[in-house]
Amino acid sequence: MTFRTLLSFLLICSPALAGHRHRRTSRRPWAGAEPVSAKPSDGSQPRPLCGHSALHSVPLRKGRIVRGTSGCLALVFGFTALAAVAQVKERPVPRLVKKDGRWALFVDDAPYFILGAQVNNSSGWPALLPKVWPAMEFMDANTVEIPVYWEQFEPQPGEYDYSVVDALLAQARTHRLHLVLLWFATWKNGNPHYIPEWMKLAPERYTHVVDGNGIPVDSPSPFCAASLDADAKAFAALMRHLKAADAQRTVLMVQVENEPGTGGNLRDHSPEAQKLFDGPVPDDVLKAMHAPSRAPSPNWRDVFGPDAEVCFHNWSVARYIGQVAAAGKAVYPLPLYVNAAPGTHRCAVLPESVHPGAPTRYEDGAPSDNVVPIWKIAAPALDMISPDDYATDSAGYIRALAIYRRGDNALYVPETGGSPRFFFFALGHGAIGFSPFGVDFTRIKAIPDAARPKEELLTPWARTGTKEFVAPFAPTYALIAPMAREIARLNFEGKLQAVAEEQGTPTQTLRFGAWDATVSYGVWTRYGHPAGNPQPMGGALVAQLKDNQFLVAGFYCRVDFRAAAPDKRRQFLRVEEGTYKDGVFKFIRLLNGDQTDGGLDFSSEPLVLRVSVTTY
Ligand code: DGJ
Repeated sequence: MTFRTLLSFLLICSPALAGHRHRRTSRRPWAGAEPVSAKPSDGSQPRPLCGHSALHSVPLRKGRIVRGTSGCLALVFGFTALAAVAQVKERPVPRLVKKDGRWALFVDDAPYFILGAQVNNSSGWPALLPKVWPAMEFMDANTVEIPVYWEQFEPQPGEYDYSVVDALLAQARTHRLHLVLLWFATWKNGNPHYIPEWMKLAPERYTHVVDGNGIPVDSPSPFCAASLDADAKAFAALMRHLKAADAQRTVLMVQVENEPGTGGNLRDHSPEAQKLFDGPVPDDVLKAMHAPSRAPSPNWRDVFGPDAEVCFHNWSVARYIGQVAAAGKAVYPLPLYVNAAPGTHRCAVLPESVHPGAPTRYEDGAPSDNVVPIWKIAAPALDMISPDDYATDSAGYIRALAIYRRGDNALYVPETGGSPRFFFFALGHGAIGFSPFGVDFTRIKAIPDAARPKEELLTPWARTGTKEFVAPFAPTYALIAPMAREIARLNFEGKLQAVAEEQGTPTQTLRFGAWDATVSYGVWTRYGHPAGNPQPMGGALVAQLKDNQFLVAGFYCRVDFRAAAPDKRRQFLRVEEGTYKDGVFKFIRLLNGDQTDGGLDFSSEPLVLRVSVTTY
């Protein structure tokens, strides 16, 4: 065993050693239960138990390889590390599973719903983490999406610094949270701003996209072999380290790059790119896009017309990211995905891309809805193409969900904003997870109220990092968190349906065989008619537990049941208010009388009902 390996073991095991010094007290049903510290309810840092601070056990020192230490010290480290490894139970690697057309993320061999939250772009540094964990506690998230910055990870070519990743692993475990790591590398919102300094200083080697006039733009070239080689090696190093350091599977998935592509209707015009653009479209692309294959082989312009630039650029970017992903997956097969910028699924044309009509408007480069099939064949190591869904209207929001929920693509919403009721849309579309962006407390009171422009002028992320921004999601997460495993399982089994309020639709009907569930909004009296809420804000989930028994939960709505048979009338047999704990429904009380005569009312408070119905 080399010293490098021994030292790596030690770094790997430090969090595990720390974890074993703590006892488990949190209410969060985290399956990867390493012992942890007590969590105060005021959202402050956990109080260390046994006189030991878990945070201090985190290897915040540089995790770089140090050469020349004595063999004797290495041996001591090695034995310590090996002893620690023996204590960490290796859990199954998280994986995506498809059954009967539905998807689930399996964690510890059972469906898991990512009640996620993504931190702000610059919050993934150890010094900032004390402002991250309280926000997760406040919001009741079970998984944090947090960036790993290439510029930090590889400060010198080939020299990898694991210290920040190790801090994330250790502290996430202490706070009983899972992680989704975001690999901010070649692309971050179409730019190369997270590449290491040594790359930025050599732009002639790590090249940019050049436009039609030969001018470099602020976006990396997908044809740059040196960048690809460096990114693939660094990503493989990250995944190799996770494989070794995370037997607990704290990390569930990794996002490869962030909103890749190039803003606008742009492709690379470098000589290599131009040659390929003028050449034949590869057969697998023709097939994936249902374009007829013919001789002589048509070029990109012939096949895709006004969408040629975008199709070509997506193919180029997908091939690059596919190779980065494959390099990582070869060493550690965690689920990998890429996120699509919101503009892409709002502005791109739909499947008729091979017979395009009017020229299309693309605000962002990739992976737009019409080119998902190109991504699937060019980047098979990616498990998912996932929409960053920032639509503020129901129709737009649902459209993005519908586009990316495919037989070959599990739906995951890695970034979102807007109304918390959209959570129910995502659930209703079979999503494996949902993750609002900008969740941490890094900017509390950063913008004094008096200095603010009018609310409507603020972009959605202008208030991120504040309690007021996080607060609207908290009731929904508080509702789901105790039963997230049950929700994931019921959705995977096809027993769950969920809806949210849409403007002008005061009642929605969910069909469950012999029963219809109606979800109505703005019913102000016991036997009143639904008028819709003053603004859309309601949402509900209904899951069939048995033939005549349902799990019902939601906000700002009334749920009722109707026998599908026209000659039968619904009678509530038993309406139980309760809560889930460790997978078991815990009865609190029976609801009846004013609470059920007109139907089952849900307001701003989290409420979970188990409802048994019969007919008369
Ligand atoms: C989408 C990006 O993916 C995020 O990293 C962030 O930049 C948000 N937009 C908005 O700030």
